[in-house]
Amino acid sequence: MKMNAGIESLAFYTPGFSLGLEELARHRRQDPRKFVEGLGQHRMSVPPPDEDVVTMAANAAVRALDGVDTASLDSIIFATESGIDQSKAAAIYVHQLIGLPTTCKAFEIKQACCGSTAALQMAQALVTLRPDRRVLIVASDVARYGLGTPGEPTQGAGAMAILVSATPKLLSFDPESGSYTEDVMDFWRPNYMDEALVDGKYSIKIYLKALSESWKGYHADSGRAFADFTRFCYHLPFTRMAEKAHRHLARITGQGDLTEADLETHLRPSLRYNQVTGNSYTASLYVGLTSLLETDPADLSGQRIGLFSYGSGCMASYFSGVVLKDYRNQLRIDEHRRMLDDRIELTVPEYERFYEHRLPVTGEDYATTVHTRGRFRLAGIHDHKRIYEQVTATAVPVTPEAALSSV
Ligand code: CAA
Repeated sequence: MKMNAGIESLAFYTPGFSLGLEELARHRRQDPRKFVEGLGQHRMSVPPPDEDVVTMAANAAVRALDGVDTASLDSIIFATESGIDQSKAAAIYVHQLIGLPTTCKAFEIKQACCGSTAALQMAQALVTLRPDRRVLIVASDVARYGLGTPGEPTQGAGAMAILVSATPKLLSFDPESGSYTEDVMDFWRPNYMDEALVDGKYSIKIYLKALSESWKGYHADSGRAFADFTRFCYHLPFTRMAEKAHRHLARITGQGDLTEADLETHLRPSLRYNQVTGNSYTASLYVGLTSLLETDPADLSGQRIGLFSYGSGCMASYFSGVVLKDYRNQLRIDEHRRMLDDRIELTVPEYERFYEHRLPVTGEDYATTVHTRGRFRLAGIHDHKRIYEQVTATAVPVTPEAALSSV
């Protein structure tokens, strides 16, 4: 039987610093249960001043390509909504940092959190036409809403690298999908702002409307129903959103109210990583998929997973895939768990100092202090150019104290 294009390898990266949401709630004079139970978030990853979407993406990409012949790469597609340049693609910096061949194209794609899914669909079409080629998608974002805003507890940061090929090892995509596009102002970031603007309650309504409409399209295209899936992944601005969305999908498809046991089986393993990293915009649905594959106790081989991708503004897609037989051999469970567990826990004042750090915009030379615990860092600015480097053993702060001493 011919296998559809799909995911050959997946890797995830999040910065080595985090903030507990109970601590944030206390500082903001909020009930911690609002953040932990109401939003479903426990921690958020915080990027230090020498990390950005490029360094996070490079850290994920280098892992996803471990053991892969990069001569087969047709392109690297960078999806982000925290871009660093209006013209030059962030993909080109990653291309150079991880040493991809000059024959591999590199470009950026954008439609809020859904840009990664558009890239994925483009990649599937490409490798279906040219089964000898592969496409690497990197999705990397820093979610910023502002100190003390309602969006603050839903901040986070992270990157995913997804290798798409005609010989997938983790997940093979079904060709059917359903999409929905509407011009709405639920969330946006003007060029002159570092933080996103959001109409929070409206964004939740639009997310659910886009889910209904995308599902309708998917159902019409595929004939599949709710019962054809054993697991569901959703775009995760905060994990409670996925529970709202899943209950909504169950209702509109006539399942009635779901039980706690249903939510545990259908959904919860996909939420575990996001609960401790926070929103990573373009990466978040795929962080959810990674979390599902790596933390679900059941053997998911042969199971069909429903995936909902939502990008504010808005564009959304419902699509699906089938987990492949030997998927467990391809996972990076220990590496990912170690990365999450070994993060340095920041206090609120330390987080605020990282948050308020700004690169100069006047072109003077600027060198960042070494904070990162990853392999690549933003070394500074020279002549309005971002300078990236691989971290050398001597440059890495070896203790949390050293990493934080010069914030
Ligand atoms: N104990 C337990 N739960 C509590 C509580 C307490 N003491 N206090 C409040 N809660 C619950 C509330 O009941 C609510 O749950 P329900 O929605 O199930 O009723 C939840 O905690 C949040 O409380 P509020 O609605 O009062 O919170 P808020 O108005 O301060 O902000 C938010 C919530 C609108 C999501 C805000 O965090 C925000 O704007 N976030 C950014 C936007 C966002 O994430 N939108 C999601 C859709 S858009 C998208 O998906 C794209 C993207 O990536 C951004």
